[in-house]
Amino acid sequence: MPKINYYVIDASDKEAKKDFIDRHSVFIYCENNAKIGEKFKIKVKVGKEYTHPDDFDHFIKYVQLWNGETLMGETNFPPGTLGNISSNVEVDFYIISNKKKLKLKAMAYCTKHGLWQSDEKIVNLIK
Ligand SMILES: [Fe+2]
Repeated sequence: MPKINYYVIDASDKEAKKDFIDRHSVFIYCENNAKIGEKFKIKVKVGKEYTHPDDFDHFIKYVQLWNGETLMGETNFPPGTLGNISSNVEVDFYIISNKKKLKLKAMAYCTKHGLWQSDEKIVNLIK
């Protein structure tokens, strides 16, 4: 089982460490509520204030979206998707659910710095 990293930055962290943590961290952007049986957009982005390299030997290889222990979606990238320019990988997932609640987490894998996981995002579904 690989080590899983998280976005945890405290005030004492040096700028270089903040850069490293931020550019690998995974963030979920979506509404807090959705409708059962209707298409719902969930944006996943890697990095907030800092960008990540897109080099042939160092890039974000995949982004996954999970609902609890169920894989909801996955996108794989070869190196060069972002033109070998340091940027933020961004994926829009569109899902339809018949559940009452989603407990979303996103994962991203850097080929040099391993697996990173977002905070949990709760979405309530209504009829
Ligand atoms: Fe990296």
